[in-house]
Parts: sequence; structure tokens; C-alpha cells
Amino acid sequence: MPDTELLALQPDHIQTLQQRYERALAHNGYDGVLISSGAAPMRYGDDQSWYFHGYGPFLHWTGLAGQEHSWLLIRPGQTPQLWLYQPVDFWHANPELPDEPWQQAMDVGFIQQREAPSVEGVGRLAVIGDPAMLAQVPGDHNPASLLTDLDETRVHKTPYEIACLVRANEIAVHGHQAAREVFLSGGSEFEISLAFQRATRQREAEAPYHSIIGVNEHAGTLHYQYYDIEAPTRPRSLLIDAGVRFRGYCSDITRTTPAAGEGRFAALVQGLEQLQRRLCDMVAPGVEYVAIHRKTHQGIAALLSAAGVVSGLDDEALVEQGITRAFFPHGIGHFLGIQVHDVAGKREPSPADAPFLRLTRTLEPGMVVTIEPGLYLIPSLLDPLLEGPLGQHFNHEVLDELRGCGGIRIEDNVEVTEEGSRNLTREVGG
Ligand code: GLY
Ligand code: MN
Ligand code: MN
Repeated sequence: MPDTELLALQPDHIQTLQQRYERALAHNGYDGVLISSGAAPMRYGDDQSWYFHGYGPFLHWTGLAGQEHSWLLIRPGQTPQLWLYQPVDFWHANPELPDEPWQQAMDVGFIQQREAPSVEGVGRLAVIGDPAMLAQVPGDHNPASLLTDLDETRVHKTPYEIACLVRANEIAVHGHQAAREVFLSGGSEFEISLAFQRATRQREAEAPYHSIIGVNEHAGTLHYQYYDIEAPTRPRSLLIDAGVRFRGYCSDITRTTPAAGEGRFAALVQGLEQLQRRLCDMVAPGVEYVAIHRKTHQGIAALLSAAGVVSGLDDEALVEQGITRAFFPHGIGHFLGIQVHDVAGKREPSPADAPFLRLTRTLEPGMVVTIEPGLYLIPSLLDPLLEGPLGQHFNHEVLDELRGCGGIRIEDNVEVTEEGSRNLTREVGG
């Protein structure tokens, strides 16, 4: 979708937010809510700050992820009022304000001071944001019930939000292609990271989460956070989990690439990819997300048997005995939006068989979720199994060969539509 079409969706997005906020305010007995953008805290004992990513509700309205010390007032039946902090400062530049239609739907003003503007005559006012920013601000701070309702306004994405998520996928897919090429030509984790940044034209600090770039065994650490400067002498596998923020909206994509000559691992990657596509096809209105998670365990069980990793136990036993949990210890995914792990996924706590599942809801049109099955060789989970009473069922030789490849994760971003689903990652070539 060209920029003009995407921007043309903004006014409806703002109008929808206004309606949703009015309902949430009425439901909680408030006459207005003042939203703080937040600001980067200083590192303890230092004069340097952390890199800033703005508070979700502020981004929901403005898309301005880097705007600090700014405030937005929402009231029923009134034009939203935005105060952007733009100090005269010869040490730092102010972020550029893109010329976009949403600004016509707001009163936009500029402030020199970091403190909240004084908001008069609103009646009962809620103030939301990082508590560190709210100390002197009159009003009810972060009332829990209102926050729950406001989180709910982020669950069903507007057409504008979907367009942003598509764009975030499109850009990230270019990054993944570049990353894969650098890996296959012998590049290190650090060089792969540079290739991703160059192709996505995004600084690492601006990414929605720290890119996970694991070569060989590192692929088996779920949120591996370092980059080796040198490539290993024998590169065998790459797992890259990396996304992009576009006008506030995040993509969250993972791909796993076997090196040439890794036949056994490549077959497992192919098997997991087929499973992942089947799981994506399960996404539809009315489906319990936890059912997709459980289906993943059955699929992993079948894969482990087919790959010769385990024998003498049927798929059901592999799940019930916790064996699939050792290979796939995380949840099948989560909501995606302005935050990579977007809010409001768990009105119910996770079930006992899926303690790390971040989303336990029935799927509805407009929700956007990730589908990210994995299959890892994680020593701290695998070794106790091998040494325990079930150890006889494992093929140690096969496992020893696979360990050096670390693991596999394949992750797409999927919209729930009226008819079923739309894979936002695959449709842009991912
Ligand atoms: N990138 C973190 C996750 O996939 O949830
Ligand atoms: Mn994810
Ligand atoms: Mn991810």
C-alpha cells in the first residue's frame, strides 16, 4: 500500500480510538485521561540515559516512539490535545514531527518544560504513564480498571494499524533476506546484525526488541543476546528473530537457516516449517489460541519420531511425559502491535501445561498474533531427560549431531480476519 493510502487511514483510526476511549472513560467514571509519553531514565550513577521507547497508549494515538516528556489529553466529545516537548537545547536535536493527517484531528502545541501541562476544568481526571513521570501531576494515577479497558482498545486493530503492521513486516523481510545471505557467505553474528540494520534502515536501538541472532549452539538460547564478532570455523545454522518498528508498530519474525551439508538439521527445519504453516492455517475467529499451542506439541512429537530422535513412545506419551516441552519450552506466540508482546493477551492465566503462553484468548477478527513454534537442543532441559528413566528412548547419536545446530524457530505475524486469517509475513515474501 503506498504511503498516501496508508496515511489516508489515519483519521478513521483516530476516530475509532476516540470512540473506544470515550467508552472506557464512561465505564470507569472519568471525564478525561492525560497520557504521558514517558522519558528515558538515566542509568544509575551515570549521566547517560537508556534508549527511549515511548509508552504504548501515547504511541497508539501518535505513532511517535521517540517523543519524550510529552502529554496527550483525551476527553469525551473534545478534540484531543497534544503537548509535544520541544525545548531550545543546543546539546540535542528535537525529533522531527512528520506531517501526517492525525495532527489535523488534534490540537498540537509545544512545550519547553518537562512537567505536565496544567489541565483545568476536566472534572475527574485519570493520568496514565510511567509512575516516575507522574509524581506531581494532579489526578488518579494509573487506575487499574481504566488501564485494563484501555489495553482492550489495542486488541482489535484498525485498518490503519494493519497497514502499519504489513509495512513493518515488509521492511523486516528485507532484513531477513540480507541476514541470511550474509550467514551463507560466512558472516559472523555481528556482521549479520549489521546487514539486518542496513537492509531495514533501522538502528538497533530503535528495533522493537533486541534482535536475536544465534549461529550454531547460540540458536538454542531462546533470547540469545550477544553477537560474536568472528564467525565460527564451521557455521552450521542461523536463527534470527528480528523485527522492525514502523510508525510505532512492530514486526516480530524468526527464520532458521541451515548451512550447506546439514542434511539432518535441514530436514528438521523443513518439518517444522510445514508444521508452522499448518498452525498459521488454524488461525480463525472462534479458535482458542491455546488449542494452537497444544496442536504444536502434537506436531513436535510427530517430528521428533520422524527424525529418529525418539522411539518406542507414541506421540501422546511424548507430550504427556513432558518430552515435547523439553524441545519446545515457550508459548506458541502472543499478541502483536505497538509492543512486540502486546497487551491484554491474558484475561485468564496460562494453563498449567503452557506456563509461558502469553495469550490465552479466543481469537476474534482484528487481532494480530504471532505463530512461532520452535524445536531446540537446550542442554539444561535435554540432559536431565537423557539421564532419567526415559533416556533409553532417545537416539543419542542423532541428538549429538543436532546439538551443534542449537535450535529452530519459525515465526510469522498473522491477522485474524472475518473469513479466517491473513499471514502478514508470508504475503510480503517472508
Ligand atoms: N522476539 C521475541 C518473541 O518472539 O516473542
Ligand atoms: Mn514473538
Ligand atoms: Mn520473535
